[in-house]
Amino acid sequence: MARTALVTGGSRGIGAAISKALKEEGYTVAATYAGNDEAAAKFTEETGIKTYKWNVADYDSSKEGIARVEAELGPIDIVIANAGITRDAPFHKMTPQQWKEVIDTNLTGVFNTVHPVWSGMRDRGFGRIVVISSINGQKGQFGQVNYAATKAGDLGIIKSLAQEGASKGITANAICPGYIATEMVMAVPEAVREKIIGMIPAGRLGQPEEIARCVTFLVSEDASFINGSTISANGAQFFV
Ligand code: CAA
Repeated sequence: MARTALVTGGSRGIGAAISKALKEEGYTVAATYAGNDEAAAKFTEETGIKTYKWNVADYDSSKEGIARVEAELGPIDIVIANAGITRDAPFHKMTPQQWKEVIDTNLTGVFNTVHPVWSGMRDRGFGRIVVISSINGQKGQFGQVNYAATKAGDLGIIKSLAQEGASKGITANAICPGYIATEMVMAVPEAVREKIIGMIPAGRLGQPEEIARCVTFLVSEDASFINGSTISANGAQFFV
């Protein structure tokens, strides 16, 4: 039977490309979304991938939602923690609310998504966790103290999960995308974006599919000895 994969924020942007790529590889895919019913319905219509609505920032909603997915599609063996938001502002203008929203969604959201599936993965002796971090968690970014903190935090999470899961057949890895052509990057003021593109040696933004291909590799059987690693996919903008 096909393994079931859960992709948070899986109906738009990088998440949508990941959901589609996993479906093409033969996995049963559940894609979550937070609010945009119209985009989710259109995505399901176009792809046949089921979408589920819950707020990853809320533990109980995540747990209930995951139970619903497992009842409908079977045990979740693969989790792609992709859901994320930005609330960019220079630190002197950043509000506690902007800090909290980003921490709750991007960082606590990873806990809320992985924790409810972790025991089942341990019991079954197989699991794949991929967290979508960011180049800005590696290097920091003007205007993103909140976001960079969460994306750096992702790397601590996967390195720790890797050590806890390795003896149980579970791998946990991160991907650090650079600037990818999605709505999130398009929301950056155009002048700033042009400046950023000027700093990418590849001379262009990445495509969501280029991140999705990293994911399909990391969740495959072939990648079973890759655990606690970070793949940077940023057009040579930054090296760790
Ligand atoms: N480096 C240095 N200085 C900068 C700067 C930068 N990158 N950006 C702005 N500044 C300076 C400005 O020149 C200005 O200086 P002066 O006051 O001396 O004129 C000062 O900072 C304030 O600038 P603004 O008035 O424009 O500040 P703002 O409050 O309107 O907005 C900002 C600032 C929100 C940070 C805006 O610059 C911005 O959106 N930057 C982009 C941040 C970014 O890269 N976000 C990534 C989003 S995509 C993503 O997150 C996906 C991923 O994982 C890669």
